[in-house]
Amino acid sequence: MQGPVTFEAHGDIGVIRVNNPPVNATSAAVRQGLVAAANAFAASDQKVAVLMADGRTFIAGADIKEFGKPPVEPHLPNVIHHIEALDKPVICVIHGTALGGGFEVALGSHYRVAVPGARIGLPEVNLGLIPGAGGTQRLPRLTGMIAACEIFTTARQVKADESLSLGIVDAVIDATPLEAGMQFARKILDDGLPVRRVSEMDVAPYDDVDLDALRAKTARANKGHVCHLRGIDVAVEGTKLPFAEGMKLERQGFWDLMQTPQRAAMIHAFFSERAVASLPELKGVAPRAITHVGVIGGGTMGGGIAVACLLNGLTVTLIERDVEAAANARAGIANTLADSVKRGKLKPERREALLADALTTSDDYATLADADLVIEAVFESMDVKKDVFTKLDAVCKPGAVLATNTSYLDVDDIAAITRRPADVIGLHFFSPAHVMRLLEIVVAAKTAPDVVATGFALAKALKKVPVRAGVCDGFIGNRILKTYRTAGDHMVLEGASPFQIDKALVEFGFAMGPYAVSDLAGIDIGYLTRQRLLPTRDPCERIADWGDVLYHKGRLGRKTGHGHYIYDEKSPKGRPDPEVEEIIAAERAAKGITPRSFTDAEIVERYMAAMINEGARVVGEGIALRPLDVDVTLLYGYGFPRFRGGPMHYADYIGLDKVLATIEREARTDDFFWQPAPLLQRLVAEGRDFSSLNGG
Ligand code: 3HC
Ligand code: NAI
Repeated sequence: MQGPVTFEAHGDIGVIRVNNPPVNATSAAVRQGLVAAANAFAASDQKVAVLMADGRTFIAGADIKEFGKPPVEPHLPNVIHHIEALDKPVICVIHGTALGGGFEVALGSHYRVAVPGARIGLPEVNLGLIPGAGGTQRLPRLTGMIAACEIFTTARQVKADESLSLGIVDAVIDATPLEAGMQFARKILDDGLPVRRVSEMDVAPYDDVDLDALRAKTARANKGHVCHLRGIDVAVEGTKLPFAEGMKLERQGFWDLMQTPQRAAMIHAFFSERAVASLPELKGVAPRAITHVGVIGGGTMGGGIAVACLLNGLTVTLIERDVEAAANARAGIANTLADSVKRGKLKPERREALLADALTTSDDYATLADADLVIEAVFESMDVKKDVFTKLDAVCKPGAVLATNTSYLDVDDIAAITRRPADVIGLHFFSPAHVMRLLEIVVAAKTAPDVVATGFALAKALKKVPVRAGVCDGFIGNRILKTYRTAGDHMVLEGASPFQIDKALVEFGFAMGPYAVSDLAGIDIGYLTRQRLLPTRDPCERIADWGDVLYHKGRLGRKTGHGHYIYDEKSPKGRPDPEVEEIIAAERAAKGITPRSFTDAEIVERYMAAMINEGARVVGEGIALRPLDVDVTLLYGYGFPRFRGGPMHYADYIGLDKVLATIEREARTDDFFWQPAPLLQRLVAEGRDFSSLNGG
């Protein structure tokens, strides 16, 4: 047999082998191959078949690239049905990950074996879908309804041992996938085990109270998403029907969801997350080796960066201003690692070992002499940073990468202070740095290509999502943030309350609104940024002052118990503070503004138009390489709702002409702030959208 699926005979045992790199997705050729291999097995003398995959993983799912295109026969549910209907046993061997359609192939097999380290899951909800090839109908028959719904609504990957205890696999065998399959096949032959079809099993009785609890939890955890609850409904209602009817119900749900904008948005997010790390400039460029990382500054960011490095196997030397500050930094890191232990993410003995063997804290820069990479995270002051880089230039070995975690400052200026600007780069982490996935890799004018590659390699080692950014005030994310936050401030001046704005944006799908975010980050940060930019301000700029009033009143946000919201025992997550409304009302009165009301839709429209316009500028100026880089930045660093795909994808969805019309309308009252981005104008004129710039 030719193609990505083959059938071979090994005595009494047949082997159906899938080989479709990189992840053995069930593309059309694989589906056709599986049918042909099943037929070959049926017609053969072999009494039992092992179904396995070559390479790093079992089948990782349907081929996502085919989604949104006209479906090609044979459809996966029919392929799986064909395998299940065979009258000789098929044993599926799972190694790597059996995800989505891959796991559904396993569920259609008569027996399942996992090798240690294998994981199974139904992650379709991450793509705005539900399982579409029997997952919602077969899995409840094996694990019970509640466990099955929990698995596909959370998209979690179930490890081999748990799969065994849940009854998903029949054995975990520590051998190569082929040998594991052969061992189990011999057992089937020896014991004369029959064909065993999951579709013919009954779903164990379950308690509706548990199901209601799961529904409520799922709804809370996935606000705005349409697929999760649909999946539960399909599983529950479908399994009350004869199996074939249940499959129809599932298929209908799958196809309905396939047509939704959420599906398109989430698949855009999936591929964009991978595209950000695949840049032509990195092709063939070897990164520098990194095992020992220096971190300068052990505050919020330095501490988090050190933890991220330690948890991912790197050795860390952290430098603080003096011995006491170094000891505080060590205590902070020890606490964060203790939290990881508490949450079951880290073994206590591993924590001890990391603190004893992998972390050095000191006030002596000389201890950085053999560091491969140093990340500076000291105060956001050019003078302090220049002082640090001068010291690093003096002590670091040739070839060490010197990185700054600055939020806004000019990385070219920082590089210029050293005698090795080619080794200098920005590595902009997000707080908390050991949790947030985004890492902006800020490439300065003289940064060497292998230093850029090293930044990307570090991101991979730390399991972060890297986005390449150019040098400008705020790079990609903070620059766009400043613009949409300003749009919010303008609406507040005109009459909206910050609380309404936060509420409207949370309803849109953001994790938090901008004023709640500001309370979390600290109102001082925005104040200091405004102070820094004071000299460059244009007299035409509309300025909101109430943030400065909050700052001067010591209302710095969560850390002081007051910001825009009040944080106390009564409302640990914050409740609107009427005093803030009074401060704002006083400013409006002083400026002669008569407040007007805003609808939530108006708020979202303006806020998004500002975000998209700045995103278009950032792409137009080459600060972000493509619109998708802006999307990934906002998705992974700024709580943008994944089911909307990112601001640029969302702009394509609503129509760029509509976005431009909003900007032009607003420009009639404020033509300083609302200047349309040239790129946006050009795309509208040419009838194109942002996705046309994403390539591939
Ligand atoms: N279809 C098409 N391409 C896929 C794919 C899929 N299901 N899964 C991964 N790929 C591609 C990636 O885009 C990437 O391509 P690139 O090298 O050109 O960028 C390549 O395979 C390798 O992927 P990763 O970089 O993600 O490799 P990792 O080793 O880090 O992760 C993985 C492997 C865990 C399998 C991860 O890729 C993953 O989670 N994939 C998605 C799995 C999934 O969602 N499956 C369900 C699909 S929906 C479905 O099956 C519907 C069914 O119910 C009918
Ligand atoms: P922080 O104030 O919490 O910590 C700064 C630390 O640097 C302090 O512990 C201080 O003692 C130490 N330090 C100052 N000068 C030093 C020197 N010369 N040598 C050694 N240590 C020195 O500040 P934070 O929030 O950690 O910010 C650090 C940097 O990270 C800033 O550039 C900031 O803009 C940036 N950043 C901050 C984010 C945040 O959310 N806090 C997010 C992303 C970047």
